[in-house]
Amino acid sequence: MFSRFFSRVGLLATPILALVVAGCSKADMNVRQSTLDPKGPVAQVQYDVFMDTVWLVVVLFALVGGLLVYAVIKFRARPGDENAPRIEEGHGNPLVEIGLITASIGALVIIAIPTLSAIWYDDDVPDAAVPTSKLAAWYPRVEGAKENYAKVVEEQVLEIDVIGKQWWFRFEYPQFGLTNDNKRSVPNEFVIPKGKAVRINLRSEDVIHSFWIPKIAGKVDLMPGRKNHMWIQGDEVGHYYGQCAEFCGDSHAYMLFRVEVVEPAEFAKWVQKQKTDSQPVAAGSKAETGKALFGTKTCVMCHNINGNPMAAGAFAPDLTHVASRKSLAGAWLDNRDPKAQLALEQKDKNTESSVAVDNAVLKANLIKWIGSSGVATGADGKPTKDVKPGNRMHFYKMFNVAGLNETQQKFTDHELDCLAEYLLTLK
Ligand code: CUA
Repeated sequence: MFSRFFSRVGLLATPILALVVAGCSKADMNVRQSTLDPKGPVAQVQYDVFMDTVWLVVVLFALVGGLLVYAVIKFRARPGDENAPRIEEGHGNPLVEIGLITASIGALVIIAIPTLSAIWYDDDVPDAAVPTSKLAAWYPRVEGAKENYAKVVEEQVLEIDVIGKQWWFRFEYPQFGLTNDNKRSVPNEFVIPKGKAVRINLRSEDVIHSFWIPKIAGKVDLMPGRKNHMWIQGDEVGHYYGQCAEFCGDSHAYMLFRVEVVEPAEFAKWVQKQKTDSQPVAAGSKAETGKALFGTKTCVMCHNINGNPMAAGAFAPDLTHVASRKSLAGAWLDNRDPKAQLALEQKDKNTESSVAVDNAVLKANLIKWIGSSGVATGADGKPTKDVKPGNRMHFYKMFNVAGLNETQQKFTDHELDCLAEYLLTLK
């Protein structure tokens, strides 16, 4: 009775499994965060290790499963067996046992070779990613190389410091002076030139986070009090999606980031743009009111805006170019027109194509974001839902020292509108 039930389940399960496996073709895996669609050498090596493991496991599965099926069929109960003399049970077979142990060790060694070489490869920019003529200087043991080292690194390897915070990423380009100390850091979305090796220095200012861009590389933890590093390279121009991959508190799931891989000339332009200040706002405009509110509503305590002398905070994301970014709130809110973006992705058959920022979407996102955190009230009179639970905006928990009470910031709809208009000028 039971065996008949299970055999029927088995009959059903086989075609279902076949359907599921049929969905696993590589072309169908073109989603934004897919490790099965590598777009750089590091991701490729990681993908290769994964596939090596998959094939080894498939062989093992076929072997073990095959033997099992063989034994089940060959030694199945037959009519009349109940009268046959009972076979005496054996006490194991040393040859089989030693053979299995040896085969298991062999399988582990086979997997260890590509795994270890990939770990070494992913650890730091390999010599192969640096032009051969520069190799002499690359090795500090060569005479005179120490002096050249910094220069060579600067010429050949782009260094980016990645700082993890609850719940967003800060990117700094020390070679270009784009650092938080210089008030020129880049939050949430960073840019790298196509085909160039990039060393990523990973730091955390609070808890453990993890840096992961499935199509480019990943993942290495950002540990408080510890310096970790890795390297990445993007070989195809496009807009890539990253994610914090280590549980780090309330809004861990909303701690995203992006990386834009661009042509080298485009990258140089982007760097220059990061060094520019914000433009003055028109007199008598909503933006002007918003700018004043930005100062009086204590946004300035945490945020920096170059070109606005009042806004010099170093704690929260730099907003000097907030309106030119395609995402907001730790890359959780998308500032592009969703329909236009989907149409483009379908047309190009990839998720790396990107439409430009849509000002209407951006404005709506700004209002939603600034108005969240239980500060503003919705049409039903209830506090609006947090865009990111636990986020620090308006909630001055970090200043809650010496018995000070937690303070909150309140905005009217008009104030939110004016603030958004001001932030929209920060291209
Ligand atoms: Cu940061 Cu999870």
